[in-house]
Amino acid sequence: MNGVIYPGTFDPITNGHVDIIRRSAQAFGHVLVAVGRNPDKETVFTMEERVQLVRDATSDVQGVDVEGFDGLLVYFALKKRIRLVVKGLRFVSDFEQEFQMAMINRKLDSRLETIFMVSSETYTYLSSSVIKQIITLGGDVSTLVPRNVELALVDRFRLGARA
Ligand code: PNS
Repeated sequence: MNGVIYPGTFDPITNGHVDIIRRSAQAFGHVLVAVGRNPDKETVFTMEERVQLVRDATSDVQGVDVEGFDGLLVYFALKKRIRLVVKGLRFVSDFEQEFQMAMINRKLDSRLETIFMVSSETYTYLSSSVIKQIITLGGDVSTLVPRNVELALVDRFRLGARA
């Protein structure tokens, strides 16, 4: 498989992620969105839910596949015959962590290259954590996430409140 791999936790996918997916598909022809686990992060949505949310949110974009993965990204990418990782950069502060990750991935397997795509200014302030904070505090996220994600969030946090 050619094209790029776009890995992330996507808990949940935001309009900022969708923007990077659209632009990657346009720039590289094909993007495999790899929904992974960050051992340091507890997620609101399960892996299966996150994969489905990304699939539904990007169903109108040509050249996109979505898969969940466990284990190291480098092994998953190479198994899929992809050697280019794309990551979105919002602020300089993102760079430090992403740079470290890119170096580690290259150390693990030097065939894997990482490139950074600068986020559109409309979405610079967006993150999955901010979205979760807004929704738990009763705010409106309708302009920040795809519609299916908004519905899933409302559902998840309402059910949580009732439990
Ligand atoms: O949403 P994030 O935090 O940008 O996503 C991070 C993710 C899932 C891409 C990253 O944690 C990852 O690649 N996890 C798989 C394990 C791995 O390969 N880690 C890098 C070497 S420590």
